Order: sequence, then C-alpha cells, then structure tokens
Amino acid sequence: MYSFKMLGFGLAKGRLTVTNEDISKLVDTSDEWITSRTGIKSRYISRQENTSDLGLAAAKMAIEDAGIDQREIGLIIVATMTPDNFTPSTACLIQQKLGLSDCEVTAFDLNAACSGFIYALKTALALLPEHKKALVIGAETLSKLIDWTDRSTCILFGDGAGAVVLDREKGSCADFYTRSCGDEKQVLTAGGIIMNPLSNPPKDYSYLKMDGQEVFRFAVNAIADAAMKVLDKNNLSVEDVDLIIPHQANIRIISAAARRLGVPESKFFTNLQNYGNTSAASVAIALAQCRQEGRLKKGMKILLVGFGAGLTYGAAYINL
Ligand code: UT7
Repeated sequence: MYSFKMLGFGLAKGRLTVTNEDISKLVDTSDEWITSRTGIKSRYISRQENTSDLGLAAAKMAIEDAGIDQREIGLIIVATMTPDNFTPSTACLIQQKLGLSDCEVTAFDLNAACSGFIYALKTALALLPEHKKALVIGAETLSKLIDWTDRSTCILFGDGAGAVVLDREKGSCADFYTRSCGDEKQVLTAGGIIMNPLSNPPKDYSYLKMDGQEVFRFAVNAIADAAMKVLDKNNLSVEDVDLIIPHQANIRIISAAARRLGVPESKFFTNLQNYGNTSAASVAIALAQCRQEGRLKKGMKILLVGFGAGLTYGAAYINL
C-alpha cells in the first residue's frame, strides 16, 4: 500500500473531432455499426500535435490544478506506445518543454500499451519517496499507427493525454495488481521492426493490427480478474467501491465486465463515446474528467482498471 496525495489533474485532446459519419466517408462502415458494436460516436485526432505536445498540455493543466511550483517535480513518467521518437523519451521532451532541463528530474517513458497509466502510477508511487513530487502522464497519438483503410481498427482509436501530479505526503493510499501475459498469438501489435536492415531493405513500420474478438475476450476476463485481485488483497468487495474508471475501449466490454463483477454499469465511468480508445491516455483522461466534473471526493474508494497489448492488464485501488 502506498501513501501519497493527488494534487492536480489535467487532460488534453487532439485538435480535430472525427465523427463516425466522417469515418464512414473513408471506409465501408456506418454510425449505426460503430455505435452498436463499440459505443463510440466520435474521437479527437491530432493535426500537428505529437504525443509530447498533448502530454505537455495535460501536464500544464495538472500543475496549475495542483497549484505547485513545477520546479518541485522530481520525477516524470510518460506512459505511451506512440512516443515522438525512440529517443529522446517523450518524458525528457516534456521535461525540456516545461523548462525543467536544469532541475533534478528523473524522466522516462514506459510502454505497457493501454494498461500504461496504471503501470506508470504504480512505478511513480514506488519511486516517489526519493522525489517529493511526480508527474505521471498517459499520452498517445494512436492516429499515426492506424491504417485509415482498415475499418476494423480505424473506428476505434483517438489521440489525447491525461496527467496527474503526485506528492509524497500522506493523504490518499493506493494498491495495485498488475500482470503481463506474453502474447504468443500476437493478437494486438504495431510498429514491428525489421530485424536485419542490411540484408532486408527497411520498410515502413507496420500499422496496428488486432484480432478484435480475442482482445475482447481477454479484456472482459482481465477487468474482472484485476479488480477482484486488488480488492481481495485489501479485504474489500466490489460493493465497497464507489467508482470504477476502466480503460475506454468498448462499451460492450465494460457492460460484460460489469455483469461478470455483479455491479451496475452505472458504477463505471465512461467517456469513450466522445474520445474513443486513447490507449495509455484513456484512464488518465477519464480520471481528470471525473475530477473536473466534481466526481472525486475525499475518502472515496475508486478502482482504475486497464488492459492492452502485450498482453498487459492491471488495476489500481485508490482510497482518495
Ligand atoms: O485497448 C485494447 C484495444 N482493442 C480492443 O479493445 C478491441 C476489442 N474488440 C472489439 O472492440 C470488437 O471486437 C470490435 C469492435 C473490434 C469488432 O466488433 P465485433 O463485434 O467483434 O465484430 P467482428 O470483428 O466479429 O466483425 C463482425 C462483422 C464482420 O463481417 P462478417 O465477416 O460478419 O461479414 C466484419 O467484417 O463486422 C464487419 N466489420 C465491420 N462492419 C462495418 C468489422 N468492422 C466493421 C466496421 N463497419 N467498422
């Protein structure tokens, strides 16, 4: 169990709103199909903004919400599977854009796909005693990995970022259950690298590819398993939880997980209708939106739950 304070929250989204009708002009699909199979109505897509730009905007909002001097931040972790570059890390870019290059900051990226923000939160809390204040960001520009002629994937994803400022002082506490299952079947992959560019001419990195039904089955089990494991560890039942903030992938996954857990769907926060799936940014954006809407109250018990490529999954139990 980690003790800490959550001081501030922020979010950012791609500049362009892309509706289901817009996508139905690109590929053979319809608003009716996308809405009934996923719950998604529109998503935000970047124009010029890269992952670090969205992460920076969310970070600035979180720092302002926290009311701190940003030079107190000693740790920056960015959860992303769509960094600006292989190196430098998006976290280092954001450090520089925040004007913290001369500060004592540890900054790095972490890739656990759509579970990334939960993994990053856990990592930050483990490291926080050394650093006083931390900035944890989930940021993605999935649109650059999408094949916009593939109707089975291009309808799902969006671009955005969410951020939280943590303080090592006591106030809230959190516990985690995280797990990775090396995926033999490769049900969700993107950006494969050519192994031997001297004998095989380098090609473009591959677009995101997914076996949707396999991921769907995995996701429902993963949400229920991670939620129950972290609650069991803390002698709690799902009835004790006030709010569940799940990875925003598909409303049917959330409904099935709610049935599996035996809780009403109303306990789950959703914003996928407007954001689509923003991978590592999804839970972070949802958390910040809950804060903006006044849904996070001192003493509440909340669960963050994510799953994604890897395959990875995990849950965070937070007593606010
Ligand atoms: O962060 C984790 C990321 N991934 C996920 O969470 C994905 C989890 N999986 C899903 O959300 C769902 O599996 C999808 C939304 C991707 C697909 O829904 P589905 O109900 O599993 O559909 P399906 O793949 O079984 O396809 C059903 C039919 C197929 O046609 P036939 O073979 O029955 O004639 C597809 O070709 O729907 C067709 N189809 C579409 N039709 C209209 C697939 N995509 C589309 C589309 N518009 N966009």
